[in-house]
Amino acid sequence: MVTPSALLEVAATVAREAGRLIVEGRADARVAHTKSSAVDVVTQMDLASERLLRERLSALRPADGVWGEEGEDVGGTSGITWVVDPIDGTVNYLYGLPHYAVSVAAVSGPRDVREWRLEAGAVVDASGVVWTAARGEGARRAGVPLWRDRGPSLDESLVATGFQYTAERRARQGEVVARLLPRVRDIRRLGAASVDLCHVSAGMVDAYYEEGLHPWDFAAGALIAQESGLRVGGLDGGPADSRMLIAAHPDAWPGLRDALLESGAGDR
Ligand code: IPD
Repeated sequence: MVTPSALLEVAATVAREAGRLIVEGRADARVAHTKSSAVDVVTQMDLASERLLRERLSALRPADGVWGEEGEDVGGTSGITWVVDPIDGTVNYLYGLPHYAVSVAAVSGPRDVREWRLEAGAVVDASGVVWTAARGEGARRAGVPLWRDRGPSLDESLVATGFQYTAERRARQGEVVARLLPRVRDIRRLGAASVDLCHVSAGMVDAYYEEGLHPWDFAAGALIAQESGLRVGGLDGGPADSRMLIAAHPDAWPGLRDALLESGAGDR
């Protein structure tokens, strides 16, 4: 069976290459089409980056499956699936706001975010910094180990979050954030979930939560967060999924989860 560190080498290699491609193509970024709403954009570079990732992954690991934001779901025979976001933070990318990333994760087991096992993940951000993790082997930023050894109380926490693209969900997410805001140090909405998870791993924010993420938004970042000592989970205390992901130090996690419940998170 392939080891997590061997998978990480593949993840970091292909994510670096796609990272270079999107940074070089930034000046020509233009909308190719929209998805769930008029503000949910796909640029031609999302498509080019995903093409490159799929080509490289199928050359390096031909028996693996691929699950990507902009392409078809490809099955595999090895039990490993690559979960890729060719540009996470596409709106930032379109505007030239340097807060976006390529995110590549390898998972084993079923294609179900509550049951899969995260094996390896690499996030290459807009400044070329490579954030990595392999299961059981820790997380790193540019090769330097990451470890969060404390989590402040809720009222001292700088909390990152994000919003979905449909008007109805945004309105509800806005209500939750309005109730949470007076209870925390402050809120940040930077616009790239994978980078938010890296930032919480490095202590650049204290915690992060978001409702409605897709698997490719969080697979690599969630492993980086877990391997840096954080708890990543959903409102019910089980694994994170598309309903909710909360990442925080284990000491602070229950307090944030309770505050989110009290703020109406999870209400449909
Ligand atoms: C989005 C970003 C954003 C988050 C959204 C994601 P995309 O990913 O990660 O920060 O709030 O939930 O969909 O569309 O730029 O790949």
